Amino acid sequence: MSEEVEFDRIAPIYDETRPRPSEGELAALTALFSGCRTVLDAGVGTGRFAAPLRSHGFEVIGVDLSLGMMRRARAKGVPQLVRATLFQLPLADRSVDAAFMSHVLQLLPDASRALRELGRVARRQVVVQLPEWFERSPPEAWRLRRARYVELAAEMGYPVPERGQRYRYTLEDLSAVASPAAVHVVPLSRAPGENTDERLSRWAMEMLGGGHIPPEVHGEILRRLRAEFPADPPGTDRPRTTRFIAWDPVRLRAGT
Ligand SMILES: C[S@@+](CC[C@H](N)C(=O)[O-])C[C@H]1O[C@@H](n2cnc3c(N)ncnc32)[C@H](O)[C@@H]1O
Repeated sequence: MSEEVEFDRIAPIYDETRPRPSEGELAALTALFSGCRTVLDAGVGTGRFAAPLRSHGFEVIGVDLSLGMMRRARAKGVPQLVRATLFQLPLADRSVDAAFMSHVLQLLPDASRALRELGRVARRQVVVQLPEWFERSPPEAWRLRRARYVELAAEMGYPVPERGQRYRYTLEDLSAVASPAAVHVVPLSRAPGENTDERLSRWAMEMLGGGHIPPEVHGEILRRLRAEFPADPPGTDRPRTTRFIAWDPVRLRAGT
């Protein structure tokens, strides 16, 4: 499935599947963007980062392939949105102060090409968010639950559309494109008071973009999953972190 079709379908529920950027994430970003005014949000989506960055005084230009996602960003007051591919940005060389990308790399077959393109358009800073989960395949316990969710949904008459392919990049992979100037590690807290079933429900939405499945069917699948897998998968409660990798655009342009 192409990215724009997949994300047009997911757009109505996307914001329920990802937390809002935390204070810690925004503090790290605003520090990295200090001295910058214009910020490109590459793969802006629903404006999850673009909207709060605007509130912090940055002028944000969002680029994305999915009109459905960008409609949500517009509704949050992000006015400058352009439909284009990240591999060929419709921006002149060094035309923005900073370029930023969050939760997009895993969709890109060629991360180095996208990074070099960000380096081309940015004058001062390129920042990419690399959550720890980008680096590893989902553990077997999660894969089993996902496969069973898909099976039960199909049995109930709601086949789950296939997702586009996902790619994994490590910090080492990205450092091989060009040496980063800084890596900021930010601890993430879980939603306070979220119980196991809520967590499982959020996970199912995240994994499957289950927007087309009626809530009562989704609920019934979760009830059966819970009965079949009463224990939480290992590692569910472990603290998580995210990382912001920052490059001098000059290095990305030179590939050093
Ligand atoms: C998981 S969402 C992330 C959105 C936002 N950055 C966030 O952190 O919530 C990925 C976004 O990247 C966009 N996207 C994926 N591949 C793209 C490409 N090659 N060119 C432009 N946008 C792309 C999708 O349409 C989608 O809106």
